[in-house]
Amino acid sequence: MGGFSFKKLTFMIMIVIFLWCSNIERCNARRVGRHWRASDSISKKKGKNHGYNNHHKGNAGKSKPKTPIPKAPPLPPAAAAGPKGGSSVFNVLDFGAKGDGTKDDTKAFQAAWAAACKVEASTINVPAEYVFLVGPISFSGPYCQHNIVFQIDGTIVAPTGPSHWASGLFQWLLFTKLVGLTIKGSGTIDGNGAVWWQNSPYDDDPLDDQSKLIFPSKNGTLPNKPPIPVRSSLGGKMPSTKPTALRFYGSFNVTVTGITIQNSPQCHLKFDNCIGVQVYNFSVSSPGDSPNTDGIHLQNSKDVLIRSSNIACGDDCVSIQTGCTNVYIHNINCGPGHGISIGGLGKDNTKACVSNITVRDIMMHNTMNGVRIKTWQGGSGSVQGVQFSNIQVSQVQLPIVIDQYYCDKSSCKNQTSAVALSGINYENIRGTYTVKPVHFACSDNMPCTDVTLTNIQLVPQQERYRMYDPFCWQTFGQLYSPTVPPVACLLVGKPASNKIQGDSDSC
Ligand SMILES: *[C@@H]1O[C@H](CO)[C@@H](O)[C@H](O)[C@H]1NC(C)=O
Ligand SMILES: *[C@@H]1O[C@H](CO)[C@@H](O)[C@H](O)[C@H]1NC(C)=O
Ligand SMILES: *[C@@H]1O[C@H](CO)[C@@H](O)[C@H](O)[C@H]1NC(C)=O
Ligand SMILES: *[C@@H]1O[C@H](CO)[C@@H](O)[C@H](O)[C@H]1NC(C)=O
Ligand SMILES: *[C@@H]1O[C@H](CO)[C@@H](O)[C@H](O)[C@H]1NC(C)=O
Repeated sequence: MGGFSFKKLTFMIMIVIFLWCSNIERCNARRVGRHWRASDSISKKKGKNHGYNNHHKGNAGKSKPKTPIPKAPPLPPAAAAGPKGGSSVFNVLDFGAKGDGTKDDTKAFQAAWAAACKVEASTINVPAEYVFLVGPISFSGPYCQHNIVFQIDGTIVAPTGPSHWASGLFQWLLFTKLVGLTIKGSGTIDGNGAVWWQNSPYDDDPLDDQSKLIFPSKNGTLPNKPPIPVRSSLGGKMPSTKPTALRFYGSFNVTVTGITIQNSPQCHLKFDNCIGVQVYNFSVSSPGDSPNTDGIHLQNSKDVLIRSSNIACGDDCVSIQTGCTNVYIHNINCGPGHGISIGGLGKDNTKACVSNITVRDIMMHNTMNGVRIKTWQGGSGSVQGVQFSNIQVSQVQLPIVIDQYYCDKSSCKNQTSAVALSGINYENIRGTYTVKPVHFACSDNMPCTDVTLTNIQLVPQQERYRMYDPFCWQTFGQLYSPTVPPVACLLVGKPASNKIQGDSDSC
């Protein structure tokens, strides 16, 4: 009797489940549950086993599935519409990722993305305590729903074998054409850069050759080139183009928070052609001698906020390139690294436009530069409206730099045109330097204008570092308070009118 009613009960439950599931499909999956899986759409397409696969598929492999997970990469759910006001979680482990640091989990990440892409405000989970080996991937989004969250609590590592990398690949993890994407969590993205750093380190970006800035030769003893990290035993010939670890392209309202990116082959985090960028509570960690490893690189992007982050790397902590406007950077610890830079702009006679940049409340320790603007001879366009304030430097070689003669070779052709610099304000820049406190080298034909200095207090780290006085060339502006050391070389007022920026330079 008891057995009979149990069977009956089971049968009734199955009927209910069957009806419920077919109803979901008829209603175009209006309510997608937490455990809804991509494999559901497979069974739906086959017109069999309706609603059978989508039960008991626990997150993080907690419970065992009743049916074997299909071998083929799961297809995305057929229903494009996401739940209104709800959310869906797609755990990479449920898509076949092993997370053992050895097996290639690239396909699982691709499949999880394909599923999450279909659902508005969905979450991809990269769980803690797993290490996912993932090759180059494009998380491409022109047809994806908005506001997807990449929750990274585990570790994602890059493969070190050359076979995983196509040559000429500019990035490892690429996010394109997305709206409202957020990457968050306490996890780490590790680029395993050592195998790249040893490899033709001088190819892409020129390395900063700081010794060129120190013209008067009072027997400076700086090395010409930074030391190259020791050859890694992992070996292998990697492609000559070194990839950026994490790159956003053509996206709106993207956020990166919580995570750490370390040991990128090249730049760690890059935003190109993005509008609305927020980076906070974020870390970059790479050795100070790793070549070209910018922390955060911005290009053609606007409305950018970068705050409350720690950046240690082998190149610029933050690099602001052409096309950037309305950028606000504050509460950053930078070092080791090359400081926070605008440029190099105007390379190969290009036009560059940068405006409304604020950099404040920064601690720089053991960096090559503090705040720097660098442009190539022969460029055009302008840099306008830059505020550098509350910058605390310690053991910084050159805390304040404008270099309009930036050059990656021993000498570059002299050219008359230049990216025009105006409205560059330095306020409350204090601390210790090890080479030269202030270096302003502006263009002969396009002098820097409206350069202001307020409350500048820079002392040599030790008396023996008092080697160079502040240097200025064709730099016009105003001192709003006495400076330490005195910057007597700043030219007060405006340059002769024939040297004012022309229309060809307007942005
Ligand atoms: C910063 O991120 C870490 C995870 O990396 C998190 O534990 C911490 O709570 C976050 N801090 C703030 C202030 O949000
Ligand atoms: C430069 O300094 C080094 C060591 O401080 C010394 O050996 C060398 O003779 C100096 N060179 C000149 C040209 O003064
Ligand atoms: C980005 O966010 C802003 C402010 O929240 C909003 O006004 C704008 O519409 C968003 N852009 C897109 C493309 O969603
Ligand atoms: C400059 O950028 C800030 C954000 O950093 C923004 O709030 C402000 O409106 C911008 N100013 C102009 C004139 O666009
Ligand atoms: C460029 O001009 C500077 C200053 O007039 C001069 O010292 C230098 O030799 C010139 N360089 C070249 C490559 O012509």
